[in-house]
Amino acid sequence: MCGIVAYAGPKSVHSVLLVGLTRLEYRGYDSAGIATIDKGELEVRKEKGKIKELEDLLKLYPIEGPAGIGHTRWATHGQPSKGNAHPHTDCKNRMALVHNGIIENHHILRNELTAKGHLFHTDTDTEVIPHLIEEEWKKTGDLKEAIRTSVVRLEGRYSFCLVHDEFPDTVFFARDGSPLVFGQGAGETFLASDILAVIPQAKEQFIIENGQWGWINKDGMHLFDADGTEVTFETTKITMQVSELDKGGYEHFMLKEIYEQPDMLRRIIERRMDEKGKIRFDEMEMSNDFFGRVGRILVTSAGTSWHAGMVGKIYLERFARVATEVDISSEFRYRNPIAEGDTLVMAISQSGETADTLAGVHEAKAKFCRVLSLVNRTESTIAHESDAHIDLMAGPEIGVASTKAYTAQIMHLLFFSLMMSGVRWLTEKEDREEMFQEIRMIPAKIEAILEKADEIKEMAKQFKTTKDFVFLGRHFNHPTALEGALKLKEVSYIHASGYAGGEFKHGPIALITDEVPVVCLAPKTEIYEKMVSNIEEVRSRKGKILSIVTEGDETVPAMSDFCFTIPNCPDYLTPILSVIPLQLLAYYVALERGCEPDQPRNLAKSVTVE
Ligand code: M6R
Repeated sequence: MCGIVAYAGPKSVHSVLLVGLTRLEYRGYDSAGIATIDKGELEVRKEKGKIKELEDLLKLYPIEGPAGIGHTRWATHGQPSKGNAHPHTDCKNRMALVHNGIIENHHILRNELTAKGHLFHTDTDTEVIPHLIEEEWKKTGDLKEAIRTSVVRLEGRYSFCLVHDEFPDTVFFARDGSPLVFGQGAGETFLASDILAVIPQAKEQFIIENGQWGWINKDGMHLFDADGTEVTFETTKITMQVSELDKGGYEHFMLKEIYEQPDMLRRIIERRMDEKGKIRFDEMEMSNDFFGRVGRILVTSAGTSWHAGMVGKIYLERFARVATEVDISSEFRYRNPIAEGDTLVMAISQSGETADTLAGVHEAKAKFCRVLSLVNRTESTIAHESDAHIDLMAGPEIGVASTKAYTAQIMHLLFFSLMMSGVRWLTEKEDREEMFQEIRMIPAKIEAILEKADEIKEMAKQFKTTKDFVFLGRHFNHPTALEGALKLKEVSYIHASGYAGGEFKHGPIALITDEVPVVCLAPKTEIYEKMVSNIEEVRSRKGKILSIVTEGDETVPAMSDFCFTIPNCPDYLTPILSVIPLQLLAYYVALERGCEPDQPRNLAKSVTVE
């Protein structure tokens, strides 16, 4: 939520910031703004709406300078408006600041500063920071010291960047809780919420740690700890390729990411399974000895990652025979979970920055549990704060609606469960070999599904004005039903709910009329017959049945208004295949309704507030 970027160097500062902000737009698109010191004067340009609006403003009123800061906003405090857009300034208009996070004690600080004569112009929590720094600065006349003493007063989570007219070629920054990474280029430097904003110009990176602050100019970075002691740091080479960040000929990132799934899974399978059928997690620093002793697993995650965690629970209990609970992160941390020394907490997060999941990690550590995270961004805060992490290997996911990260999470949870079952001697060699054979066939089976995408595209046309959708699934595909409903809600704004097939008759079936499409996940598994009964129940109430079935099935298609077939596979792999048509359904229904699938209203990709 909210993206910040800063630049110091010889290039056109507003161009560099605009490119960076466009790359960060997945973090919020309510408003955007930049600030520089242009010929000795602080200049701020900001606009409500997407980066394009800011770009148009800058064509009319350009600004330059040796350094600058930029922000793209997901509104938390104060409605999306030009007034509430960042950067925010002090009373004398000498400094401007962009912020990602929430200042929880902003009311107290605002009252205190107002009493001292500061004038506030916005409804944001952020505006207290430049005023606080201004106030501290009056005491010593030393801006660096003023930043150090100000951050001590801030409660909540933040990373911020600041420009001041006394230091035109410098950007000051501080971090506590929200991500901030330093990028070093050739004679130029960067700061950003996410390194993808500043590649390929930035060649090396350093992740700023909580409690650190400092400044950059074109030559490099000076970094300090909370006491004001200068800290030495070592940068690492950036491996992300800029080609991973474009749409690659697709109309939207969401579609591109759906289509990337076969190759992504091939990469994952190749890295995780060696020729001898052994499972490898090279980056995960936890011993087999520990996995042999784990008595219970608590999974904490949000949104799509929570749905993946639900599939993971079935894997972990079936293959590794470990009792597993799955919690929504925002609930986990408040329910005081019982965790003994043999409890492993698994945090699943695409971004690795989700505030609720991070809070769950902190809760687990406070209970002295070992924490293993499954993240798609290995440089993220959650990875950093966990005892060990697994790289989900999905590559950058830009579409706000998560697609490829979901199948990467499920595949990794399957491998993890099989690894644990191996450590515990729970599966026979022959069974494992058979499973590995089946897993290897999954990418080609997804390709076969994607080849039939037009069937879904065509079918989506009839839902232009539909108001409600229901998704039903059982066992492995109960989470698929929840995920299908979430995808549709997110990108097409149609109300949709997912239910466990067997639970539907206990109340929600009252929703059914001939106007409600019911997506029924009925691949061939051991509970297939039960699902058929649930479909009968809906059909006899005149619900419109859209079914996802295994090739060769003749029963459910005969009961359906529309039917999509997926290739045959063992039950434990069905959630990977059956979600693909649901991702396509959400995407094409969104297009039919004129919605922008990559940037749905009110959402941001990375939810860094609780
Ligand atoms: O980055 P995370 O996996 O921690 O994000 C969790 C959710 O915010 C995320 O899955 C969200 O629900 C997506 N928009 C789903 O498409």
